[in-house]
Amino acid sequence: MSQRTKIKELLASTQTGMDVTVKGWVRTFRNNQFIALNDGSTNNNIQIVVDFENTDVALLKRITTGAAISVVGELVASLGKGQSVEVKAKEIEILGDSDPEKYPLQPKKHSLEFLREIAHLRFRTNTFGAIFRVRNSLAFAVHQFFQEKGFVYLHTPIITASDAEGAGETFHVTNFDIANPPKTETGEIDYKQDFFGRATNLTVSGQLEGELGAMALSDIYTFGPTFRAENSNTTRHLAEFWMIEPEMAFYDIVDNMDLAEAMLKYVIKYALDNNKDDIEFLTQRLTEEEKQKPQNERSEMTLLEKLQFCLANDFERLTYTEAIEILRESTPNKKKKFQYPVEGWGTDLQSEHERYLVEKHFKKPVILTDYPKEIKSFYMRQNDDGKTVAAMDILFPGIGEIIGGSQREERLDKLEQRMDEIGIPKDELWWYLDTRRFGACPHAGFGLGFERLVLFVTGMGNIRDVIPFPRFPKNAEF
Ligand code: 4AD
Ligand code: MG
Repeated sequence: MSQRTKIKELLASTQTGMDVTVKGWVRTFRNNQFIALNDGSTNNNIQIVVDFENTDVALLKRITTGAAISVVGELVASLGKGQSVEVKAKEIEILGDSDPEKYPLQPKKHSLEFLREIAHLRFRTNTFGAIFRVRNSLAFAVHQFFQEKGFVYLHTPIITASDAEGAGETFHVTNFDIANPPKTETGEIDYKQDFFGRATNLTVSGQLEGELGAMALSDIYTFGPTFRAENSNTTRHLAEFWMIEPEMAFYDIVDNMDLAEAMLKYVIKYALDNNKDDIEFLTQRLTEEEKQKPQNERSEMTLLEKLQFCLANDFERLTYTEAIEILRESTPNKKKKFQYPVEGWGTDLQSEHERYLVEKHFKKPVILTDYPKEIKSFYMRQNDDGKTVAAMDILFPGIGEIIGGSQREERLDKLEQRMDEIGIPKDELWWYLDTRRFGACPHAGFGLGFERLVLFVTGMGNIRDVIPFPRFPKNAEF
């Protein structure tokens, strides 16, 4: 196979006059003369100029939107507007035809809802090309950030017998014939006969196993898929999402916050530096989309400005108790504009509250700490007030919660007491408790919802548009 040059490289070329081979998918073919060709290496197309008078008519007819082609030609300075170079075609080969009558992606604007139904082809649009290149950069930057700090990438299991968050939202994993599972004498399903000899599920979080790693390797992180059977049909929830969970020995909650803030800034900066064209495109897309909204609902900043703002400013840090005071006194609460009115201390914050704090009150990312223990997980470290735990949630504009984390309860007696209080079986988590028996130390960690990060950086409005093949209630297509 002949060497081809990717379009990104060709468009950046300062040299012209040489023959090049370029391959890609036809976006448009204008006047039998100009092909806009894209190969996914960049949002920008390269223009192929066809000498139609000397080209077989049958071949011209096969240059249709969606077709895969290979072109050999001379790279020349472009006379047209919008590009500096173009390719004067000498040979065109059709690699894969695309029937223009049947091809679902027409060269026009399609709705995001329609594109979700053809998620197998939506990568070929400008918007989704940009999203998935940004997603790729963010993933790479996450690894680079932790690797530069000497963290160990730890692969925690996907299949597990524990429910780390204790929320009972797990997907079961079984090899039984579900119509006819073996039963015990008392009529219950006999998991002893199942593949793993016990009931198992897909992981909701790698945290508990991550803590085991940190208790020897010091600093670890996971980056893998997690699964939640919560029946949330929202623009912020998926049933399968990717989570990054660092866990650090000898960290307290302040160290934890510092690390989380530094990580978010690092990966956003990486995308800004490495995906300039994509972020510019997505900024324009969002600005166009917002023009459809009434003036008072449009954001004050463009996407690019929001990202730069996030890098330039310290996140606001305050306690849950302080946040509740602000919310209680807020205009929307007094005017009964919140769907869930903020009454007293102890209630969980809804996304409308989180977004009020971030978007209206502080107008910047916020880190909330020290939540009531009743609304947080069993493993969070209990504060001396007996009421709160050393939790931290990071809230982002347009998103709400992007990170959830805490300092962990390292004191065996306190941890066991909390597990008893809320009914977490200690015998099943004997291995977790062992790390509190042998060489326990202060430690902390957090979980970043990767898709929520991608939502923020791409300015998209629906989490189903930032993962290639979204999984949500009543949908597992592709
Ligand atoms: O707050 P969560 O449930 O925390 C944990 O799972 C901890 N074990 C993390 C830790 O301390 N190691 O989830 C963490 C983050 C949330 O802040 C959110 O960004 C994301 O995961 N998340 C989801 N993202 C998409 N769809 C869902 N259904 C999500 N549930 C949580
Ligand atoms: Mg949370």
